[in-house]
Amino acid sequence: MPKKMTLQIDSHEQMSDKIRRLVLKGQTGAGPGQFVQVEVSAAQDPYLHRPISVHSCGPEHLSLLYRVAGRGTAFLAEKKSGETLRLFGPLGNGFTLTRRSSAVVLAGGIGAAPLLALTQWLRQEGKQVFFYFGGKTKDELFLEDEFRHAANEFMITTDDGTAGFQGFVTQAAEPVIAAHDVAVYACGPEPMLREAARLAHTYRRECYVSMEARMACGVGACLGCVVPTGRDGAYKRVCADGPVFTGEEVFPHEG
Ligand code: FES
Repeated sequence: MPKKMTLQIDSHEQMSDKIRRLVLKGQTGAGPGQFVQVEVSAAQDPYLHRPISVHSCGPEHLSLLYRVAGRGTAFLAEKKSGETLRLFGPLGNGFTLTRRSSAVVLAGGIGAAPLLALTQWLRQEGKQVFFYFGGKTKDELFLEDEFRHAANEFMITTDDGTAGFQGFVTQAAEPVIAAHDVAVYACGPEPMLREAARLAHTYRRECYVSMEARMACGVGACLGCVVPTGRDGAYKRVCADGPVFTGEEVFPHEG
């Protein structure tokens, strides 16, 4: 059950120009794929919460990775180690553990944030993980060594060829998806998720995509985060029904 928590900031690091990592001390019960609503300012004006996905989690810590992109996260970026932070969570459904022995994990830009916890969990459960981390350019990549260390196989891709394979993560991963009995997990821009779902459909693989949406309440009440699902276009709430959906749910294929 989600609850209000006040946790102490253990560390708050700048990982790249815009990316920050907050490590909080305490028990939260959060799991891979879930998120928390962080109170970034206690003042009434502005009274700000931001949904931030779980980057890694353990019995005594919670790590959150976020991009500074607006007023709320700019407030958050000012927080220092030793200060406390109020949050509400854990929220959302989290990832499903595949029964297959291997997984392809596709990360696009800041979409990599929830995929470290996923990869660590998959490895703990004895799965082999092929991790593909892509960005438009090498400046969009971060924490490559931690992702490389967590996965069995790791590859970087960039659209412009400034690092790693030149092209999209889905292009780099297709041979592995085609050749191995893998589950596909993805988080990143919507075109990337759509392509991941299409590849999984083509090769008959299970597929889980973590969706991003603008959120207000974070608990399923305001309907501000809905996405169309299924062939009939029914809507689901990213915050309460997701953020993880099967590829078929959000990108259904005909035939
Ligand atoms: Fe309110 Fe999802 S943010 S329903």
